[in-house]
Amino acid sequence: MRRTTPFVVALCLSATALLAQDLTEEQDRALTARQAHMGLYGFYLTPLGQMAQDRIPYDADVAAAAANNLAAMAAIDQSAFWVEGTDSSLERSRARAEIWTDPDGYLEVKQGMADATEALALVAGDGLDALKAAFGPVGQSCSACHQPYRAPAN
Ligand code: HEC
Repeated sequence: MRRTTPFVVALCLSATALLAQDLTEEQDRALTARQAHMGLYGFYLTPLGQMAQDRIPYDADVAAAAANNLAAMAAIDQSAFWVEGTDSSLERSRARAEIWTDPDGYLEVKQGMADATEALALVAGDGLDALKAAFGPVGQSCSACHQPYRAPAN
């Protein structure tokens, strides 16, 4: 066992390098983090959308918690996500190069989502009608960024 340890370590290191597709550690971490962040947007958006579309019963506590979490996540500084060399020319990335060439436009749509989720968080626990009215702009704020800044799926 003791003798095989260096071999196992070497194997693990080369497997990691292979998965990372020659990315630097910083690029790899940024890609993993921002895609996880987006996954969490989806995680919290889903029950809100299901309630807004009458597919699951309205629950004020669940709605308020999900909307608060979305708003908190949308508000954080995300600039460290966008490390140079991680655009959609990589197989692992769907981030269009425009994020880097048009950072102001990108920040504007990011702010649009922050505003829409903040408005939703203020009313999501106040009943289904209030949720429905504030939900639309949140869904639209995702598309407002995905259309110009996310490349189609590979
Ligand atoms: C300011 C821009 C922006 C906003 C706002 C935004 N997204 Fe994204 N989203 C992106 C970009 C860019 C990618 C591609 C990232 C990559 O591949 O590295 C992405 C990818 C995703 C993914 C795929 C993640 C993965 O595992 O590869 C999901 C899911 C997602 N977004 C959901 C959402 C939802 C839900 C919202 C709204 C609540 C939202 N996004 C709002 C820019 C945005």
